[in-house]
Amino acid sequence: MNLNITLLPGDGIGPEVLAQAVKCLQAVEETFGHNFTYTEASIGAVAMDQTGNPLPEETLEICKNSDAILFGTIGTLKYDDNPDAKVRPEQGLLQLRMDLNLFSSIRPVKIFPTLLEKSPLKKEIILGTDFVIYRELTGGIYFGEKKLSADGTVASDLCQYSEREISRIAHLAFKAAKNRKQKLTVVDKANVLETSRLWRKIVSKIGESYPEVTLEYLLADNAAMQIMLNPKQFDVILTDNLFGDILSDQGSAICGSKGLLPSASIGNDYAMFEPFHGSYTQVQGQNIANPIASILSAAMLLNHFGLNEEAQAIIVAVDKALRKNISTKDINPASTYGTSQVGDFISQNIIDSEEDLNFNYENIGLGKSTII
Ligand code: IPM
Ligand code: MN
Repeated sequence: MNLNITLLPGDGIGPEVLAQAVKCLQAVEETFGHNFTYTEASIGAVAMDQTGNPLPEETLEICKNSDAILFGTIGTLKYDDNPDAKVRPEQGLLQLRMDLNLFSSIRPVKIFPTLLEKSPLKKEIILGTDFVIYRELTGGIYFGEKKLSADGTVASDLCQYSEREISRIAHLAFKAAKNRKQKLTVVDKANVLETSRLWRKIVSKIGESYPEVTLEYLLADNAAMQIMLNPKQFDVILTDNLFGDILSDQGSAICGSKGLLPSASIGNDYAMFEPFHGSYTQVQGQNIANPIASILSAAMLLNHFGLNEEAQAIIVAVDKALRKNISTKDINPASTYGTSQVGDFISQNIIDSEEDLNFNYENIGLGKSTII
């Protein structure tokens, strides 16, 4: 397959982790005989430094002319610490989501069996966790009218949703639930928010067309608690932009590290793939950031084009790295492997997937032989 992929490295650790995802895509090309072309473009603080604009027109054009976009991370401390900044790097990402109409963020929260010990939750609670968050991505409080009074003492952000915005993502979430464990949980604050009550009305109506899916509602505060107490109860979570942002970070934390989970941001015409995590500027350039979320984002990209065997090859190689303890310090504090070494190992194992099939991973670290 020929694919034209736009690379948006962005800020902070974005370029480092994205480079590892590209290594893995190149390994897939070599192993499965595909032909991907990569075009890099700038976004975020980097783009602001170059052009004054966090989403230059040229970047948008490149994205629109590609089959898919692989995104790094965005944001720098310089702007985080300055509430008066008129333009912020994050606006580049938000504008891109809006301009490409990427209204649905799909964020799978799945524990790697190898990482059970790394979860802050007890083993028996986290074991078997496998749910996916459908986060509305181009509406709600993120995009409503923002106001600051002339004297700078009062501010507001409007949270607005239309039936159209709710129903298009609801259909995607129901379809996903239908193909999974047939349960859909809508997370909202319907006891307080008018928008949440509109979500409930529309989603329950749409639910009539998906009789095989059990629909339930959970208030967001309770949902945050339930994700800690019993994450296994969830299958598909459907929620708005802000709750989805918060719950997805919580989801990645319970899996052992924020550096692990990928996401797909999908619209009717375009698709972008990005880690859950942020730009972690504090360690930029130190070769210690975990590249796995970015690498698994590349796997989601392949899935999107039906290249499921190829995506699986990436996942298997990631799993192998984790089993062999070839991971960054967030997972293994004593690790001497950096971002690029983990990327090298995973990409190499996509190519040589047959090699060491006889390896007994269970025995690693136990001081026993690893050869069966
Ligand atoms: C995410 C990020 C973004 C968001 C930021 C960088 C604007 O946290 O994709 O979850 O809030 O959507
Ligand atoms: Mn977030």
